[in-house]
Amino acid sequence: MTAQTMLTAKGRLIVALDAKDIDDARRWIEQLRGEVGMFKVGLELFARYGTAIFDIMKAEQVPYFFDCKFHDIPNTVAGASRSVVAHGMHMFNVHATGGSEMMKATMQAVEEESAALKIQRPLVIAVTILTSLTRNMLDDELGIQRTVEATVGRLAIVTKRAGLDGVVASAKEVASIRTLCGKDFLIVTPGIRPDWASDDDQKRVVTPAEAIKLGTDYIVVGRPITRSKDMKDAARRIVSEMEGQL
Ligand code: C5P
Repeated sequence: MTAQTMLTAKGRLIVALDAKDIDDARRWIEQLRGEVGMFKVGLELFARYGTAIFDIMKAEQVPYFFDCKFHDIPNTVAGASRSVVAHGMHMFNVHATGGSEMMKATMQAVEEESAALKIQRPLVIAVTILTSLTRNMLDDELGIQRTVEATVGRLAIVTKRAGLDGVVASAKEVASIRTLCGKDFLIVTPGIRPDWASDDDQKRVVTPAEAIKLGTDYIVVGRPITRSKDMKDAARRIVSEMEGQL
């Protein structure tokens, strides 16, 4: 049995803390602790509060995914990764387009620092191609003459070979990444909407059940839970939809 197959439905739910301020984020955590597997701290909170946000997550004693997508030369990303390990996050991410050398240097730094601090190593995953980029943009702006799907698949393989734990991927890409990278490679999928929630600004959505059926390990859900009148109930409904597919 792999680590992923042992995950419960609740453990697979990551709630995006896209909150306007720290009071909202704290309120959401209070409501949802025990109902979800992880919280996601992104650029917005980090840009406003800096590393104080890590102290808050530590004080709240909740596992979190630090989603700031490091992208720089190998030495710089490895150094930044070394710095964040001490804060004790469960997962963080980099851009796969930083290259295999950068990702390998990152893993080495993370392993060394976790061993030195005697803490469990955080999971490290990569963003392949941002879902906001289209095939035309890949071609015109980046000079990549492949489909988005082929580029994502290629970068997922590079990520796996560099020793990372997995990738962030849209539902559309989950099945092919699973085929290319195997069952032990983590896939984290945003763009999730239960039938009862609004799509908001998400363009191609899948339900929690569909995402699990496609083979993803974790789903990232924000507004369907955080804008709901009863956040706890929304989280529970999503978990029970996932349970039906496990
Ligand atoms: O509110 P919603 O469920 O749309 O939030 C989804 C979260 O996942 C947001 O934090 C968003 O930035 C993130 N995300 C996404 N699509 C991607 C990558 C990240 O929606 N391709």
